Amino acid sequence: MVRNPNSLAARDIASLLHPYTNLKTHPETGPLIVTKGDGVHVVDEDGKRYIEAMAGLWCTSLGFSEPRLVEAAIDAMNRLPFYHGFTSKSHPPAIELAERLIKMAPAPMSKVFFANSGSEANDTAIKLVWYMNNALGRPEKKKIISRQRAYHGVTIASASLTAIPNNQRDFDLPIARIIFTDCPHHYRYALPGESEDAFVQRLADNLEKLIVAEGPDTVAAMFAEPVMGAGGVIVPPARYFEKIQPILRKYDVLLIADEVICGFGRTGNMWGSETFKIKPDMISCAKALSSAYLPISALMISERVFQALVSESEKIGVFGHGFTYGGHPVACAVALKALDIYRDDRILDHVCAVAPQLQQGLRRLAAHPLVGEARGVGLIGALELVKDKATKEPFPPAAAIGPKAALAAQEHGVILRAMGDTLAFSPPLIIDARQITTLLDAVQKALDETLALAKRDGIV
Ligand SMILES: Cc1ncc(COP(=O)(O)O)c(C=O)c1O
Repeated sequence: MVRNPNSLAARDIASLLHPYTNLKTHPETGPLIVTKGDGVHVVDEDGKRYIEAMAGLWCTSLGFSEPRLVEAAIDAMNRLPFYHGFTSKSHPPAIELAERLIKMAPAPMSKVFFANSGSEANDTAIKLVWYMNNALGRPEKKKIISRQRAYHGVTIASASLTAIPNNQRDFDLPIARIIFTDCPHHYRYALPGESEDAFVQRLADNLEKLIVAEGPDTVAAMFAEPVMGAGGVIVPPARYFEKIQPILRKYDVLLIADEVICGFGRTGNMWGSETFKIKPDMISCAKALSSAYLPISALMISERVFQALVSESEKIGVFGHGFTYGGHPVACAVALKALDIYRDDRILDHVCAVAPQLQQGLRRLAAHPLVGEARGVGLIGALELVKDKATKEPFPPAAAIGPKAALAAQEHGVILRAMGDTLAFSPPLIIDARQITTLLDAVQKALDETLALAKRDGIV
């Protein structure tokens, strides 16, 4: 394709290394250049408007034009544009935000550590688990359990937890001491005829077998997203967490809830941990914490974990961990304002009011010949596209059915994310009924067009 070298697309191709992009085809396909946003919409350089049905990267929960967040940032920037928490320094926005998070946490939490991304929060959690077990005199208890298809980030340690092949392949990951258990996706991994309860029991038994086989004295913690996001929006069966938590407690394996996507209303409660009755020892959160207006993440830890850190830091003389921008005052101020808005605008009530329309609409699309499973909870959902609905046979990856459907939806003014052949939905929490109808109509058209293409190419 010939491009004007001064165009934004040509300059992008000449200068940017894009995350999560096929670097070989990008110069041909080119970027979608987004120049502004309003409400649940973004607008590209040609003025075309899209419903951002992924809230960017599952994050812009209050939409793309919330003036109260902008004002909070300006105000904080004018007051104190930077300060930090190293060497016993502090500032009011970090203190206030930590207090607020502890008060609203879904399980008793004692302290909050701020970082800048979900990956950093999860990396920190791994380091704290290791530090804690050194403090407790159990230097062998260091292995961390993750689950197949988990997504916990892309730093070296968090990507080691991310059990998605392309995040590890040829990056020489995972690192040592990361072990994996089953993904709780009944549609894909249940045995023929296996009920949800039997499936969950089997997974719980497998988890226990894994811990015993590895040696309980070597297994320290397990990470879990309440709903697995980037692995395909996998909603666990109702009794999954009820079954696995007693096993973790039995072997003194900490549970770290990764609320990076689910936190702050996504599943219809403030926390995914509430929706799925999870009582974690640590909680990581990010994204909607600031409605993604500024980068900030938080790791909350229980008093037991904190006490162990205190004793180790006393021994060493310092708790040697921290990021320059962790707890940045402007990001903290924006996060505080986001929490105010969730409360004052009754965002949870709104999510509960509109979520059934999205969920029922997705379930209706399950009747489409391309859709194997429609799933979701609250304002997060997915359609898994399959070649054969009866056998659940997937399409060959080279057919790129999911990306084609996402592109078709984009042409109809809806930005989705295709994760393989699973289309994900995670719109801003402020989406209204009319916008959900528009979104679902566009997806229906996109599926019809993708089916026609697949028929034309002899793929179905
Ligand atoms: C559940 C979950 N954990 C962690 C992360 C990593 O967050 P970040 O991209 O901010 O590092 C993500 C990102 O999508 C996520 O979905």
